[in-house]
Amino acid sequence: MPSHRRDGGDAMNLIRRSRYSFDDARHVAQALQPSYPVYCLRPHVLRRAARRFVELFPGKTLYAVKCNPHPRVLNALYDGGIRAFDTASLPEIAQICETWDDADTYFMHPVKPRAAIGMAHRVYGVRVFAVDHANELRKLAEETRGVPGIVAVVRFKTEKSGSLFHLAEKFGAEPSEAVELLREVARLGMKPGIAFHVGSQCLDPSAYRDAIRVAREILDASGIRPACLDIGGGFPAPYLGTDAPSLEAFMAAVGEGLATLDLPEDCEVLAEPGRALTAQGCSLLVQVQLRKGDRLYINDGVYGSLSELVAVDLKLPARAIRLDGDVEGQFCMFSIAGPTCDGLDMVANACLLPDGIREGDWIEIDRLGAYSNAVAARFNGFHPETFVDVADEPLGDNPC
Ligand SMILES: Cc1ncc(COP(=O)(O)O)c(C=O)c1O
Repeated sequence: MPSHRRDGGDAMNLIRRSRYSFDDARHVAQALQPSYPVYCLRPHVLRRAARRFVELFPGKTLYAVKCNPHPRVLNALYDGGIRAFDTASLPEIAQICETWDDADTYFMHPVKPRAAIGMAHRVYGVRVFAVDHANELRKLAEETRGVPGIVAVVRFKTEKSGSLFHLAEKFGAEPSEAVELLREVARLGMKPGIAFHVGSQCLDPSAYRDAIRVAREILDASGIRPACLDIGGGFPAPYLGTDAPSLEAFMAAVGEGLATLDLPEDCEVLAEPGRALTAQGCSLLVQVQLRKGDRLYINDGVYGSLSELVAVDLKLPARAIRLDGDVEGQFCMFSIAGPTCDGLDMVANACLLPDGIREGDWIEIDRLGAYSNAVAARFNGFHPETFVDVADEPLGDNPC
């Protein structure tokens, strides 16, 4: 059977069993002619992003596993120097600890099942846990009673400050509560730490400086000397039209903030980047199943890899691929409709593509390494799960 007729399960099993490696997404389309979505992973880009962050950040870099937990993504980041991981659940902790002996896991979800706290420290030796409420702190104290060296990291709320995804409505203690929580951590015999997250895809470096100032005020008011200061994630990816400041600009703001603190010598400074390390490390090859005017029905959508596109206004570079010629015509804005029968599975004004695009063509949508496969559901039986390696660089900003 020719490979392009081998659809769905068969082809995906074949790909999972062998390590497919291609020059670029066009080569993937030629070889597999896939009617299912294919993630084109760029391990060299992931390694480079990890190396750069580790070099620039004046502390310990924890990769936020939730952002993209695919084993090949984790491997590439490990190869780039990541040895510590921000984990949100027991399965993430298990995944990291069962993969590497020399990796540290930090349990940074502010709300944890009791059983997961117990397993995390008993089975996997986790010592650092986030809290943002007195009852969670009590839970942590009860589940780790008698265990030496537990660090309870108090996460406080940050102001809404230039981030596309604000997290402070769900997590973080008010600064005044954080003061009390830090004192309570010490009273309970644990080591206190302090943390914040400015929100994901933050475009304003001063958000970090401001949050570090609030951390200083909280520490001063509590009289606590912290075991760690965790500045969270939030560093942006260069999506189209975002004009994101450089990582250097963010690190300069972080450095300015840190310089105002009088941290104990053994205080660990931590960051938990996700998106900034992975977004550019993976694109997605999808196929057009039907065109209706300026709407393209494709084989992945908002219940798969594209959920962030409906949550916020986020634009991605894309290019059209046809095997027997070029896709011609002026560039126009197309909406995208995903493969499910659900009416919400659509993204308006999603991609600029040549007007000649038609059924059977492929589209490579770039910068989809963050919060894509990680959040994909199995709705209607569709689930993007095929990964191949590609050797080229990410698409440039120009969608041509
Ligand atoms: C606790 C925590 N740390 C780190 C991250 C990673 O954030 P980002 O991908 O914006 O760097 C998140 C994302 O939700 C988070 O909740």
